[in-house]
Amino acid sequence: MRKEKVSFEIERAREDQLDELARLYLEGYKGLEEYSYTHPDDVKAYMEWLWRRDPEGIFVAKANGKIVGFVAGDSNWFSKREHKKVGAIHEIVVHPDYRGMGIGQALMKRILEYFKEKGLHTAELWVGDENYKAIDFYRKLGFKEKGQYNYWVRMTLDLNHSKAQ
Ligand SMILES: CC(C)(COP(=O)(O)OP(=O)(O)OC[C@H]1O[C@@H](n2cnc3c(N)ncnc32)[C@H](O)[C@@H]1OP(=O)(O)O)[C@@H](O)C(=O)NCCC(=O)NCCS
Repeated sequence: MRKEKVSFEIERAREDQLDELARLYLEGYKGLEEYSYTHPDDVKAYMEWLWRRDPEGIFVAKANGKIVGFVAGDSNWFSKREHKKVGAIHEIVVHPDYRGMGIGQALMKRILEYFKEKGLHTAELWVGDENYKAIDFYRKLGFKEKGQYNYWVRMTLDLNHSKAQ
């Protein structure tokens, strides 16, 4: 269900924002702990890993001057399943108070545009098999389920025929 709109902008993340992203991640994954890191040290290490993977591939959504969502993409990911380099979406989180306002969708559009700028043809992500909200969200953007490994569902999107842009 769509809530009242807020105005927000999407910007490239800076390294000095990683601690803020870690706090947002912990807040955003409440209730989904089986699919997330929960110890602050692990979350910090994860944010640093995301940054190292692709420092240009993290985008934040800002509303009223504060970060309310981010997406972490990776234009250097080699997919074993696709046997080629893909644009991997490692993470997307929107603060619970700001969900259902189109912020997640805007972040996804930005990362998919970035992958296209990098000449990539496929986007790939893994989502928890009972994270139905996120699965629906990705389906709406045109992602398709491509099998499962343990409790992770793999989804891909053809960037050349994507309705998300
Ligand atoms: C998944 C997530 C990023 C979506 O962000 P969001 O800002 O709420 O998404 P949007 O408002 O852009 O919604 C886009 C579409 O997704 C669907 N959607 C989003 N929230 C929904 C909800 N609560 N219930 C049903 N559908 C929902 C809607 O169909 C919406 O389409 P619409 O434009 O027709 O309304 C957010 O729920 C989140 O942070 N979840 C926790 C972290 C997580 O699970 N990340 C994914 C890990 S793989």
